[in-house]
Amino acid sequence: MGAAAAWLLAVASVAGQAAPAQRPVMAEDVFKSVQVLKGITVNEFMQTMGFFSASLGLNCTSCHGEDSGSDWASYADDKPLRKQTTRRMVLMVNALNRASFQGRQVVTCYSCHRGDIRPQIIPSLEVQYAEPAYIEPDELSEQAPRAPAADQVLDKYLQAVGGVPRLAGISSMSATGVRQDYDDLIEKYPVEVFARVTGQHATTVRSRNGDRSTVFDGTGGWIAAPLSEVPVPVLPMTAEELDAAKVDAALFFPATLKLALTQWRVGFPTTIDNRDVLLVQGFSPAGSPVKLYFDRESGLLTRLVRYSKTIVGRVPTKVDYGDYRDVSGVKIPFRVVTTWTDGRSVTELSDVRVNVAIDTSRFGRPAVPVPLPEPAAR
Ligand code: HEC
Ligand code: HEC
Repeated sequence: MGAAAAWLLAVASVAGQAAPAQRPVMAEDVFKSVQVLKGITVNEFMQTMGFFSASLGLNCTSCHGEDSGSDWASYADDKPLRKQTTRRMVLMVNALNRASFQGRQVVTCYSCHRGDIRPQIIPSLEVQYAEPAYIEPDELSEQAPRAPAADQVLDKYLQAVGGVPRLAGISSMSATGVRQDYDDLIEKYPVEVFARVTGQHATTVRSRNGDRSTVFDGTGGWIAAPLSEVPVPVLPMTAEELDAAKVDAALFFPATLKLALTQWRVGFPTTIDNRDVLLVQGFSPAGSPVKLYFDRESGLLTRLVRYSKTIVGRVPTKVDYGDYRDVSGVKIPFRVVTTWTDGRSVTELSDVRVNVAIDTSRFGRPAVPVPLPEPAAR
């Protein structure tokens, strides 16, 4: 706890300076032993750690030693062999991409490792002859032949969730419910969501360790989480996170969705969880692909996949929507499962309201999260 408090003081001063101008906090500002992953924000640095973990099928402690489970400062320890090997691998991958692919990021850790610490060397007959599973394509490079136009799929969706006239009548929404982490079968934390059609939105999860929130005020934003979960508790959003927050703003209000993304294209029909779906891809204002899966029968949005850039490649986030219910004539998903490289959470909403008054303070910079007091012993 003492070490964590000292760390917090050190990083709070950095993050504090950054707040007014929304200057992103850089990895070198916060971390002690950065040698190869330089010139990137703290958020991108942590996403890069997620990229390593997912590509090699490892936990943080596999490269950082057992102490790193509880103490952020110990991540700077350079003794673990795997950490050193990883630095070499980053340089090797950069050299490969430079020498053979004009610097395009086409070879990544995942190209060889495929979720394993030791890359397979011999082609697998099991894989070759197995029933093919659905593997998310990296990116749709073109409209699939004979696929319907994106407009047609999006129109069916807008119709399915209530139709444009009704959707256009909604200017704000609030919701409460609970969120449960995948690796935690017991705790369900209260969650609150607020959104305005003018672009602002805020989501807060009241966890025992302190609030986790994502807040976007229409121009700037913040991501906050307890120090027990992230190295810096309140960070201004990076340019990329702001870009994603703008897309989220449109997802709260589907009537605005068609204009939120550009270069729409549709992929081959496919099946996910025994439902026929169509993949529709668009690009965010900053040019990041966003994929939307629509149920072919109901027309509803069932999945979203988006990416965050890291210095070694992109990491995906997947959001599955379900349990659509009627609220004032529009259909809203009450169950949302979010999956990313570092975890998975299930959000179940219970109370959703539309056209409510929301205090503007909801969209301000969140406070540094503090743990809830321990329940009094009896
Ligand atoms: C495959 C190995 C690997 C995995 C897995 C990994 N890391 Fe790292 N981590 C590294 C390397 C290498 C560095 C040093 C990067 C550099 O020198 O630029 C690093 C640096 C860090 C630092 C900066 C420490 C400092 O103060 O200098 C933090 C914090 C960190 N990692 C957190 C994590 C977390 C959290 C996870 C799990 C989500 C994780 N890492 C998973 C290899 C790994
Ligand atoms: C071109 C293929 C290739 C790429 C790309 C690649 N690796 Fe590797 N990596 C290997 C091979 C092969 C080994 C095993 C080497 C051996 O057996 O001596 C290995 C071993 C490792 C190890 C040591 C594993 C152990 O046994 O402890 C780590 C850690 C690692 N790689 C991390 C990474 C990271 C992180 C990236 C991305 C920055 C990456 N690798 C990209 C081929 C690759």
